Amino acid sequence: MTLVIAQYGQGGPEVMRVEDRDIGPPSTEQVEVEQKAIGFNYFDVLQRRGLLSGDEPGRVMGIEGAGVVMAIGPKVTDFAVGDRVGYLKSQGAYAGTRLIDADLLFPLPRDINFDIAAALTVKGFTAFLCAVQLFEVQRGQTVLVTTAAGGVGSLTARLAAHRGAHVIGAVGSEAKREVAHENGANDVAVGLDDAIEQVARLTAGTGVDVIFDGIGAATADRLLNAGTVRRGGTIISFGAGAGWPKASPDAVALRGATVLAPQVLNYLTGPTELRAGMAKVFALYRNGAFGEISPARYALREAAVLHAEVEHRAVSGISVLVP
Ligand SMILES: NC(=O)c1ccc[n+]([C@@H]2O[C@H](COP(=O)([O-])OP(=O)(O)OC[C@H]3O[C@@H](n4cnc5c(N)ncnc54)[C@H](OP(=O)(O)O)[C@@H]3O)[C@@H](O)[C@H]2O)c1
Repeated sequence: MTLVIAQYGQGGPEVMRVEDRDIGPPSTEQVEVEQKAIGFNYFDVLQRRGLLSGDEPGRVMGIEGAGVVMAIGPKVTDFAVGDRVGYLKSQGAYAGTRLIDADLLFPLPRDINFDIAAALTVKGFTAFLCAVQLFEVQRGQTVLVTTAAGGVGSLTARLAAHRGAHVIGAVGSEAKREVAHENGANDVAVGLDDAIEQVARLTAGTGVDVIFDGIGAATADRLLNAGTVRRGGTIISFGAGAGWPKASPDAVALRGATVLAPQVLNYLTGPTELRAGMAKVFALYRNGAFGEISPARYALREAAVLHAEVEHRAVSGISVLVP
């Protein structure tokens, strides 16, 4: 039997239940993983609220984790019992032990501990996608990160700062101002109005080279209409804190901007891409591009407590669940 956090219905943290489940042995191409750390993602919140996928009563929550292989199915050749592994975007992560298809796993390097793996797999790759692969941030550029105290936002701000950009970080409350500074933001705005004003002042009305947006909804339109991104600049709408990102074609065209809304899974399409992608993320971590990472740790059975704190927008940075 293993402890899991299952979702019954859609709504607040009250739809989350702690249960004991029997998971059985791995099937032919599966692996049994004893999980050491589970990544908390805002995706889990959106899914709990019913914004991302249909209602499947009893679905085990979570999509990201790291741990040790305990058993393998008869056709698994890439992994052996005792291997350290990680994964992303595989439903069923909020569990002490779980079964998972072997081709969704990547081997975890010895120098990457389980907490760091669970902190960096989804969020580190998203930050890499934003600030390196899709828009290669250069020394001297000016960058706005709209959720600079969040998970992906903090890593993206740190990565942009490490690459030599001037980083303007926006946060939702005064309490998160210092966190954004610690994440490499040279200037911090509280709320979008303040961000629009500060960017106009700091860039003498030109706008920033690139905006990394985790808020979504109408944020891109607002920033385009306010001239917060420079003419011909780029907005990468990676997140949906307030709803799915929307940018009207008129606003985009008037600014001559490029607006992208990438999804990690479209870039990690198979085991080869996954393993190569994670190798890049861990290389960035080793060379200091993400700075020190010490995620907040919550007991797995207390996952609903973490979700409640997130609902109150009281959580900064990266959190992991520990079985
Ligand atoms: N594209 C991809 O493949 C991909 C990958 C990973 C994550 N994501 C998305 O990226 C976003 C950030 O993910 P994360 O896991 O790192 O979470 P997070 O940044 O730790 O949390 C979301 C942030 O959004 C802000 N927020 C929450 N509700 C809001 C609202 N109603 N209006 C405005 N801002 C609000 C909060 O910041 P403040 O309190 O400071 O405002 C909060 O810190 C999520 O939407 C997630 O789904 C996308």
